[in-house]
Amino acid sequence: MTDRSAEGPADADARATAMSRLMAAHRSIRAFQDRPVDAALVDRVLEEALHGSSSSGNLNLVSVIRSGDPARRARLCELHFGQPMVLQAPWVLTFCADTFRTRQWLAQRGARLGFADLLSWHVAAFDAIILAQTAALALESRGLGICYMGTTLHRMREIADELQCPPNCLPVTSLVVGWPAEAPAQRDRLPAAAWIHEEVYRRPTPAQIDERFAERERRGWERYRALGPEMIRRMDELGITHLAQYYTSPAKYDPDRFREDADALRALLAERGFLP
Ligand SMILES: Cc1cc2nc3c(=O)[nH]c(=O)nc-3n(C[C@H](O)[C@H](O)[C@H](O)COP(=O)(O)O)c2cc1C
Repeated sequence: MTDRSAEGPADADARATAMSRLMAAHRSIRAFQDRPVDAALVDRVLEEALHGSSSSGNLNLVSVIRSGDPARRARLCELHFGQPMVLQAPWVLTFCADTFRTRQWLAQRGARLGFADLLSWHVAAFDAIILAQTAALALESRGLGICYMGTTLHRMREIADELQCPPNCLPVTSLVVGWPAEAPAQRDRLPAAAWIHEEVYRRPTPAQIDERFAERERRGWERYRALGPEMIRRMDELGITHLAQYYTSPAKYDPDRFREDADALRALLAERGFLP
């Protein structure tokens, strides 16, 4: 166990510097070398990450499914809307909100059953996401590249079935993991003034929205247009003239598709024991 009280300021400085560097070096990686990553290394990092993550009630309501088999990754790739890195990266880690194991334990011990409700779903999902992000940083600290797969939320049922998840266990996010074959530029973030609020929520004025989204609009627009003539043609076809329009267009986060997938999610939560 690390006893922080025995450390001097230099130790804390060194740790903070290493952490700052690690975070500054973060990039989502979408191209990977054709080079294996030792399963034991991934498992060790995951184990360390669980120890390094807070966990609600220390219940550890999480499971991680590590998939490396090319045939399985090919099926997962399809479910992740064909995103090629699912096939290219040697590992896909699917982080599941899992109260199944704990319920099984409770049942075996004759305790009152619980954790089959919407609140437990959130508790377990938060545990899974917290673990995923700790693991992401830990994997990056070893020079590995990662990319989250948000498509997990849109194909939750199919991914759960492919990975044979029991009731009360559903995937909430995935990471592809491998040795990077690209070094992309750092992506921008909204400025601190846009999202750090002092004491209470400060609603932005229209002028503040203009100011705080200006850089995002400029850089985002440039980045999407730089993807090539096919993208420009699609944007023109959809009548997109600025970044905000792009985000909720059928080409990106289509609200109609989101509503459909949200309805499917509600049905799945009910079916798998997280909703009445
Ligand atoms: C929950 C989550 C889901 C994501 N899903 C995808 C995805 O499906 N495909 C993808 O290419 N990137 C995905 N990303 C990566 C984001 O696009 C990326 O984090 C963002 O553009 C910022 O870039 P950076 O991570 O390189 O700083 C996801 C990120 C998060 C946190």
